[in-house]
Amino acid sequence: MKLTRRTLTTALAAASLASLLPGTALAQKKIVLGFSQVGAESEWRTANTESIKSSAAEAGIELKFSDAQQKQENQIKAIRSFIAQKVDVIAFSPVVETGWDTVLREAKAAKIPVVLTDRSVNSKDDSLYVTFMGSDFVEEGRKAGRWLVEKMKDQKGEVNIVELQGTVGSAPAIDRKKGFEEIIKADPKFKIIRSQTGDFTRAKGKEVMEAFLKADGKKINVLFAHNDDMAIGAIQAIEEAGMKPAKDITIISIDAVKGAFEAMIAGKLNVSVECSPLLGPQLMSAVKDIKAGKALPKRIVTEETIFPMEVAAKEFPKRKY
Ligand code: AHR
Repeated sequence: MKLTRRTLTTALAAASLASLLPGTALAQKKIVLGFSQVGAESEWRTANTESIKSSAAEAGIELKFSDAQQKQENQIKAIRSFIAQKVDVIAFSPVVETGWDTVLREAKAAKIPVVLTDRSVNSKDDSLYVTFMGSDFVEEGRKAGRWLVEKMKDQKGEVNIVELQGTVGSAPAIDRKKGFEEIIKADPKFKIIRSQTGDFTRAKGKEVMEAFLKADGKKINVLFAHNDDMAIGAIQAIEEAGMKPAKDITIISIDAVKGAFEAMIAGKLNVSVECSPLLGPQLMSAVKDIKAGKALPKRIVTEETIFPMEVAAKEFPKRKY
């Protein structure tokens, strides 16, 4: 549209009319969403942040985004600031499971609905949030366990497993461990000989794997990493120790990010269980539904699969993260 004195006057008149007539179509203001992200610890997290930012822009939702750098106190501060700013909806991916009740009660008292994305909280009061959308982490652990049991079904002797856990106290670390152990415990030949956190990062994954290799070296048959980034770091450690990843040590991880596909195509990672970070579109539609007064299910589970290295080259071009 050409900007003339007349169009300008009309636009200004509409704007002032909108402020005088709240509740009319003219006055429709953007929904404001406050989102507190865990951090930027992994390829998965970067894709998740990108999905949330781009979906908010597409949905016409104003996003107030805060990065907690893997610290719960930063998330609590961000949520309090969203409450003070009177945002319409608060969403967050809780870095750890416990310790949220007080701040969630503050949001409830301020009548600001809360959506949990990706990770849940461990609270007795589920009225503190509207819905939790994200993966079934216990099932992801089970998928990893089932794949291993099948792969090693003809192995007679012990299978020594080392485990790289995610962030201590986080839902994916607790649940993936639980699901994996639930499956492998059926056969006593499977033994987790070492288990330590690598905080979901490549650097820590490498560092902890170096320590595992120093302590147990050739005794290690399997690595179960709670995410791809730690597996990728560990692959480096295994190569530096003069061993062949995915051959001398079977490697199982979770997420199925592009980096994992590259490792599988290069023959260095055996399998990755899918955990989708593309939660943005679902979150924006939930935010709109909440504002429109629609009821939402308490739990929205993401559907996922598993990718062994044999299918990696074929699947890679279809990957979105
Ligand atoms: O909560 C999802 C987990 O967090 C992903 O598996 C991991 O990569 C991320 O950091």
